[in-house]
Amino acid sequence: MSTVAEQALRRRTFAIISHPDAGKTTLTEKLLLFGGAIQLAGTVKGRKASRHATSDWMALEQQRGISITTSVMQFPYNGKIVNLLDTPGHEDFSEDTYRTLTAVDSALMVIDAAKGVENRTIKLMEVCRLRDTPIITFVNKLDREGRPPLELLDEVEKVLGIQCTPITWPLGMGREFKGVYHLLEDRFYLYSGDKHRVSEIETIDGLNTPGLAERFGAPYQTLLDEIELLQMAGTDFDLERYRAAKLTPVFFGAAINNFGVRELLNGFTDWAPDPLPRHTESREVAPTEPKFSGFVFKIQANMDPKHRDRVAFLRVCSGIYRKGMTLHSVRLGGPVRVNHALIFMAADRESVEEAYPGDIIGLHNHGTIAIGDSFSEGEPLRFTGIPNFAPDLFRRVVLKDPLKAKQLNKGLDQLSEEGATQVYRPLTNNDIILGAVGTLQFDVVQFRLRDEYSVECVFEPVQVYCARWVTGSDDKLFKAFVDKNETRIAKDHYGDLVYLASSSVNLSMTQERHPDVRFLDTKEHG
Ligand code: G4P
Repeated sequence: MSTVAEQALRRRTFAIISHPDAGKTTLTEKLLLFGGAIQLAGTVKGRKASRHATSDWMALEQQRGISITTSVMQFPYNGKIVNLLDTPGHEDFSEDTYRTLTAVDSALMVIDAAKGVENRTIKLMEVCRLRDTPIITFVNKLDREGRPPLELLDEVEKVLGIQCTPITWPLGMGREFKGVYHLLEDRFYLYSGDKHRVSEIETIDGLNTPGLAERFGAPYQTLLDEIELLQMAGTDFDLERYRAAKLTPVFFGAAINNFGVRELLNGFTDWAPDPLPRHTESREVAPTEPKFSGFVFKIQANMDPKHRDRVAFLRVCSGIYRKGMTLHSVRLGGPVRVNHALIFMAADRESVEEAYPGDIIGLHNHGTIAIGDSFSEGEPLRFTGIPNFAPDLFRRVVLKDPLKAKQLNKGLDQLSEEGATQVYRPLTNNDIILGAVGTLQFDVVQFRLRDEYSVECVFEPVQVYCARWVTGSDDKLFKAFVDKNETRIAKDHYGDLVYLASSSVNLSMTQERHPDVRFLDTKEHG
């Protein structure tokens, strides 16, 4: 087997999707502990403390500085190389969170046992569905009183539309939490409540081992009843259905006490797919191809005025990236100078000279790279599936000094190419409307306009409920639609038409009136 095939097969590139406070940060930290990437618990937590303090620019800067290194965490486990991509979730929730999900091969969904499926999870799951990304579920916080596990699984199935296959099952909950039963191994893992007992977990083999009823009491009987129900329902694990995103294996645990995490990580590294082939406009690219290719899914600006560069995060799709190699930008049709590339490696950053399919590399540049850009060794491959996502938040830009309109436009063009915000210019007036999925995006845009383009502006609320890209196959009908709704239509940065609905009723009525027009909530770049 070639080196690239061998290395690609070892890669597991994934992200965690969850609603804020479900336990993503805690779980990340424990995964890194198991992976040997960090020695002490608390390393990732520090980041969260800074994440909660926003709006103060210092905090923002600090946070973004830190998050370059935490954007990708790589660690070895069970002979695999795991790449965990950060999905900003609190105030730093942004379109990047969605786009990161286009760069992974699978995802891990964390659910709070007391809260069940929450709205951010629903949105992130919709993004995963665009590419049928396989999902493993972790139900967290079993050390607290939560909802009955069967009810939680039922909610996942109904709300998220994916079949659940429990791999572990809780023995009690809250104060009565005694551990989990592993259905595939026929083994109990017992919970002691102590933090960080990684290697000393007591296990008991066999569901019907004598003495368990006496030892565990009512929770054991409940578990037996529930397991019987599960078996009758016939929800056996099926690798193919998991890989096709039709089924999600479910694990239960308490991340804070390191419980249930190892079983989760074992399941993950055994089942999660290695790098998948990727579509381009011209052909499918297999990870094992010898020539390098990849695409940019995220751009992060350096907030330090002394180092005004940007780091573009590129997912390697095929071949090998070697330090110092020349990359061909498909959009620009030529080589792009990259001062030095960062290869993310938690364990031993110094010695890494190469990156393989599934890995992420960071390219320093001064604005020559845009979101969605494809890179290769020369072949004009344009990767698809790295879309813009319709924003949920909108502001009108009000320029303080009207003479700065040119700089404002230049700044907004650059910022929209970097994916920091989306810019809409209505057809019938001179407004500029910004769209974002997280409020911090507006803070970043305002700061960068001032800092990099010397443009002072304020953002006002605007009566826009949502944006939908509109297209129509019948030119005449489409023109009639545009003429009739001119005041609610704008052009995005790339000149594509967007319908800015004033309310959900307005959107559905317009859709009803124009069945021939397509209203899209994602749009491919370019
Ligand atoms: P997030 O990244 O998804 O937002 O969640 P995070 O890990 O920060 O966890 C949110 C809160 O839930 C934290 O408490 C964390 O300690 C707690 N938590 C995480 N996993 C578990 C668990 O298995 N059991 C219990 N009981 N709690 C858990 P916090 O009070 O907000 O923060 P902190 O003071 O603990 O840092």
